Amino acid sequence: MNSLRPRVFSGVQPTGNLHLGNYLGAVSRFVPLQESFECIFCVVDMHAITVWQDPHELAHNTREVTAAFIAAGIDAKRHIVFNQSQVSAHAELAWVFNCVARLGWLNRMTQFKEKAGKDRENASVGLYAYPSLMAADILAYRATHVPVGEDQKQHLELARDIAQKFNNDFAETIAEAGYNDGFFPLTEPLIAGPATRVMSLRDGTKKMSKSDPSDLSRINLTDDADTIAKKIRKAKTDPEPLPSEAKGLESRPEASNLVGIYAALTDKPIADVLTEFGGAQFSGFKQALIDVAVEKLSPITGEMKRLMDDQSHIDTILAEGAQRARQIAAPIFAEVRKIVGFVG
Ligand code: TRP
Repeated sequence: MNSLRPRVFSGVQPTGNLHLGNYLGAVSRFVPLQESFECIFCVVDMHAITVWQDPHELAHNTREVTAAFIAAGIDAKRHIVFNQSQVSAHAELAWVFNCVARLGWLNRMTQFKEKAGKDRENASVGLYAYPSLMAADILAYRATHVPVGEDQKQHLELARDIAQKFNNDFAETIAEAGYNDGFFPLTEPLIAGPATRVMSLRDGTKKMSKSDPSDLSRINLTDDADTIAKKIRKAKTDPEPLPSEAKGLESRPEASNLVGIYAALTDKPIADVLTEFGGAQFSGFKQALIDVAVEKLSPITGEMKRLMDDQSHIDTILAEGAQRARQIAAPIFAEVRKIVGFVG
């Protein structure tokens, strides 16, 4: 493969109500990558509309994800933060990829099956083509690495399949254009440590989700300290004290979730947390968890609020990020046009 310089791309959908699961599972994991990679972080508004979004809420949520990126410590000056729809290369390259990807490949995507549910006839065409837009997001910048959670692995594999098929199908014009080892990279997943899967505070077997009808099930990035404390105090537990070894968390989903959250917030291995709290009652552990959650999250929620009060500042960050993203994507897409045989 071409020796492209390492570049990270990742996207977060602005579909509302950012919660602790989004923070620990995605946004907070982006922060350390800034040290070793050139990073592009994208608010994927075009992916969001593959299911219905209220237009006012979409705009609000796009700004809120941007605020969360910045508040969590992403440096929009050294790296790039923007919203997908401002850079037309995403849509243009997605069309080319729609013609590279095969129906059979998309038919295997489990996320489509889950999201479309039983009423598949009524799902949007965009929801079906979602993975090819995601491949375009990544490859519009010829990104070499993508931080992904478990649920997006299949989509990243599809992006590799698309890159590979593009490289094969157009091998002749790719060589004519002077690339002797394919045009698109086979992007690697970046899996940082054990994935933190944050579960509902009301049911440790269900993922923490913005669509859970009970607000007590999740910690939102807009919750204040009192709300965080209340939700953790009310979190479901079981009657046993905490175990002193990870084995003891098996078949205790709620205990396992709270310990996992504590470990992720303090950046400690689960084993260390259990050495400290093994034998403790939940009441004491919950107070410790409240303390670390508030300590870690309050500065972020505070900064998000401050940023959200100045909409024009956020919009400027996105516009400047989009401008810089276009500068990277434009010459790449110009090459794609040549390779495919588009005139002009
Ligand atoms: N599909 C991702 C999600 O729902 C979001 C996303 C869109 C993305 N484009 C991407 C993630 C490119 C990584 C790279 O979480």
